[in-house]
Amino acid sequence: MLKKLFFNWKMNPVSLQETRNLFSQVILAANNQPTVDLVVFPPYVYLSELSQQLQTTRLANLSIGAQDIASQAFGAYTSQISGPMLKDFGCQYVLIGHSETREAYKLSNQQINQKLLQSLESGLIPILCVGHQTDKTITEINYPELAEQVTVALQNLPTEFKTEFYLAYEPVWAIGTGKTATNQIIEEVSQFLKQELAKLSLANQVGILYGGSVDDVSIQELVKLRQVDGFLIGGASLKPEKFNKIIEIVTTQT
Ligand code: PGA
Repeated sequence: MLKKLFFNWKMNPVSLQETRNLFSQVILAANNQPTVDLVVFPPYVYLSELSQQLQTTRLANLSIGAQDIASQAFGAYTSQISGPMLKDFGCQYVLIGHSETREAYKLSNQQINQKLLQSLESGLIPILCVGHQTDKTITEINYPELAEQVTVALQNLPTEFKTEFYLAYEPVWAIGTGKTATNQIIEEVSQFLKQELAKLSLANQVGILYGGSVDDVSIQELVKLRQVDGFLIGGASLKPEKFNKIIEIVTTQT
């Protein structure tokens, strides 16, 4: 199966003009390679611009998403942006519990669960990010921490929910460091996550992603992963020469 690519722009680019230019490059890439599925997560303030640019293209293989979502639908929550607002601005996807957001807002797994429920209620496709927040080493995998992140975040899901859904494994030490987890570790963790999902009867519904220093070089090995349905890409998603190479490798080798 062709892998899906999720571009997390984080707090970049720094101007509207640069954002327009970068998104034009993504549009070009999606146009040139109709078999790849791309999703871009810009900062909130650029969602409207990207949504308008996207509408003029009619591309079916490119969508936009938000980097976070409020735990409530509306009300007195200064600085927060809700699911219905994101939906209204053309978002189809939302990142939930990215390690940088968990750290910045000291989010508990219960709060992440609230965000997840909000995303489903709003009709947004969630990408729940998990990773060993407390691990500093590359070889140790903190399975109990991963299990808790998954099971608490996924509690009380509506029984009838049928939407697409992703779990992104992102070891904190691999994010923005140039160090990627080995394929062996990623396969092992994916297997574990699938077992946890199976306990919740979600194994067939949830796709597994990997994120953490995916770039034009590391993708050459990562593309061989069989259990992984796609990649969450930060730094390299801001550089057309890098993401074009990633797209080329993913489309020719999967
Ligand atoms: P990176 O970021 O690709 O720059 O490591 C990934 C992420 O934070 O999602």
